[in-house]
Amino acid sequence: MRNIIILLGPPGAGKGTVGSELSDILNIPLISSGDLLRENVKKCTVSGEKAQKYMDAGELVPDDIVIEMIEGRVSGEKCKEGFILDGFPRTLVQAEMLDKIISDKDALNVFYLKAGDDFLVNRLSNRRVCGNCGKIYHLVNIPPKKPGVCDVCGGHLVQRQDDNEEIIRKRLSVYRDLTAPLLDYYKKKGVFYPIPGDTDIKRMLGEIKKTVQW
Ligand code: AP5
Repeated sequence: MRNIIILLGPPGAGKGTVGSELSDILNIPLISSGDLLRENVKKCTVSGEKAQKYMDAGELVPDDIVIEMIEGRVSGEKCKEGFILDGFPRTLVQAEMLDKIISDKDALNVFYLKAGDDFLVNRLSNRRVCGNCGKIYHLVNIPPKKPGVCDVCGGHLVQRQDDNEEIIRKRLSVYRDLTAPLLDYYKKKGVFYPIPGDTDIKRMLGEIKKTVQW
């Protein structure tokens, strides 16, 4: 039986932050479609080159590119005990693809991290990420010990290119149109658990713990 967790929610709801904590607690890998895409952009792969213009505009990258990337990851040896998905699936086509690789024996839980638009715009403007290891910080809530420097690897902290108000609002609108329909999709499957995204991490993990034991 694999432990499969999907973190659904709008940009900035805390999928990456909570996912990273859960990955340490449950000892299963966190797979972030956004991070995989950014890695491909950085390495100038064919997929990365195709994806970049969509990411810069705050739009979704075409399903075939993302699906191929995720399929390759979840079928690996590291995922045999389970995995946590951050940012995938984001469309019904992606959800249907995922269904094909989940079996009845797997334990699937979908957590929906909920927060309002203005709160998220404000939160994302203060996000910084390590350009080297990807660790996520917040200038006010989760600041690094030394300004501009990653606590984990000493890398330089940067602001994501798509974390400006105009693009954040575009991402929120794309989320509402294309990803929000997945809430009903997973509600119907009986594996859907809403949790507040605008609260502290400890409380968010506490909510998840009501469903996933550790
Ligand atoms: P992606 O990287 O997935 O971005 P996103 O969904 O917009 O989500 P974010 O990473 O912005 O937010 P998050 O919820 O992970 O929040 P975080 O934990 O960082 O996607 C980027 C782009 O890639 C997309 O626009 C699209 O183009 C493409 N893409 C990706 N996946 C795709 C797919 N499946 N299909 C097609 N295209 C795809 O937290 C945010 C901030 O809040 C941080 O500063 C953090 O420190 C802080 N914070 C978080 N939680 C808390 C808390 N509880 N208390 C205090 N502060 C907190």
